[in-house]
Amino acid sequence: MSDDLKLTILKTLAAKSSIEDTADAFKNVPSDVVLGALKSLESHEMVTYKTLTTEVWSVDPEGQDQLDNGSYEARIFYAIPAGEQGVSIDELKTRFGAIANLGQGKGFKNKWIKKSGDNIVRLVDTIVDQTKVDLETVLATGTHENKETIKDLKRRNLIKSNKSYSYAVAKGTNFSTELKKLETDLTDDMLKGDAWKTAEFKQFNFEALGLNPRGGHLHPLMKVREEFRQIFFEMGFEEMPTNSFVESSFWNFDALFVPQQHAARDLQDTFYLEDPAAATELPEFWETVRDVHEKGGYGSIGYRAPWSEEEAKKLVLRTHTTAVSSQILRKLALEPYRAAKYFSIDRVYRNESVDATHLAEFNQVEGIIADKGMSLGRLIAFLDVFFKKMGITTIRFKPTYNPYTEPSMEIFSWHSGLNKWVELGNSGMFRPEMLRSLGLDEGVQVAGFGLSLERPTMIRCGIKDIRHLVGHKVDRNMIETDPACRLDKKTGKEVATADT
Ligand code: PHE
Repeated sequence: MSDDLKLTILKTLAAKSSIEDTADAFKNVPSDVVLGALKSLESHEMVTYKTLTTEVWSVDPEGQDQLDNGSYEARIFYAIPAGEQGVSIDELKTRFGAIANLGQGKGFKNKWIKKSGDNIVRLVDTIVDQTKVDLETVLATGTHENKETIKDLKRRNLIKSNKSYSYAVAKGTNFSTELKKLETDLTDDMLKGDAWKTAEFKQFNFEALGLNPRGGHLHPLMKVREEFRQIFFEMGFEEMPTNSFVESSFWNFDALFVPQQHAARDLQDTFYLEDPAAATELPEFWETVRDVHEKGGYGSIGYRAPWSEEEAKKLVLRTHTTAVSSQILRKLALEPYRAAKYFSIDRVYRNESVDATHLAEFNQVEGIIADKGMSLGRLIAFLDVFFKKMGITTIRFKPTYNPYTEPSMEIFSWHSGLNKWVELGNSGMFRPEMLRSLGLDEGVQVAGFGLSLERPTMIRCGIKDIRHLVGHKVDRNMIETDPACRLDKKTGKEVATADT
């Protein structure tokens, strides 16, 4: 707060001993600024003040219209031609609408006009538009000397009152024309000498609200993830532990019946670890997996190609969360049978060249359902409900190929904004070659599906380039101001995945 104003107030008081009304003394200073200065001076007991309330009237839009175009009664009066004939009430109604009644009523009261059959005729030749004159006075002075006029204009919704505050100020017990700088802290320097004896301290303001603490903000991906998690929990799923980002090729590929010669295992697609480069051992059932790859089994002829232990031991950054699903299914196989539903949402890595829709790391949303009699039909029915919970009402399936599922289906949804079918994700029934070698009983079928977390988040945040969602180009302001996540259920905004 400027000390100038405080000094001016003190000087004015020194000259005149009191200020009757700050509205007159400091015409151009807003009253809240004056109040701030007075409060500060009062806290040092340099002044005392009383609040003066004045009612100031301003013209409402309806009043402004009558100021600009004449009062309703005057407009009606001028619409009636002089003479016996006048004009019909119906015609006034058509010409003036709602105003006609109001204008006539006031015109009758003023004895300007009268009814004659179905017509209105003039009673006088000329009028003075008093309403307009009164409004002009209010506009110019903020009030009107006739209290009845104020009441009448207010009742007619032509003016409204605004309270304005000003202050009457007098000298306080510590009055002086100099502003003392108050101490805010008791320092060791003051205590060493005598300064503490005479120092005047600023009072604590216990009413002050303080600064808003700067808290953290959840990234939009984390908000959308939370929404997906809630949908999974709602549908009875358990969450898989996905905290291990490095997996052996065995869990990432072999246990899933991905042939060792498959293109996905190329260096161009998968990040292999250099140090350590290989897992020390394979799970105890590795030979079963080897046999089903090389020779087949469970109704399959296998790939009939050599399978190398060394290849299976290679460590990779997991390329999909299905590497976790395969381990969970193995655990399930070792327990007495129970139907189970699992999900995970976490990061996976692919050796992609980064562009607007691809990152080398992204998040997968994955679900698996293990049950006796689980079928493709049940998977389709499940996905229908699952996506409806996310606000996606129209989905469609297209056959596709996955080494570990048969049949496999890509999931598409109709995107009304883009006016086309967009790919949501991938799904299918896990192959017996995989499930039986993991040790699951015959008769236990497992369905699975996966989608990316990034694309639905991009759609929700209106982000076109994935590099603006993750990485150094992220706008931190967007992170801080992005509202709590809601996949837009009402408008049924479609959600899609990044290419998985
Ligand atoms: N792992 C698949 C992917 O990366 C998704 C998927 C999971 C497909 C489970 C079928 C079954 O796209």
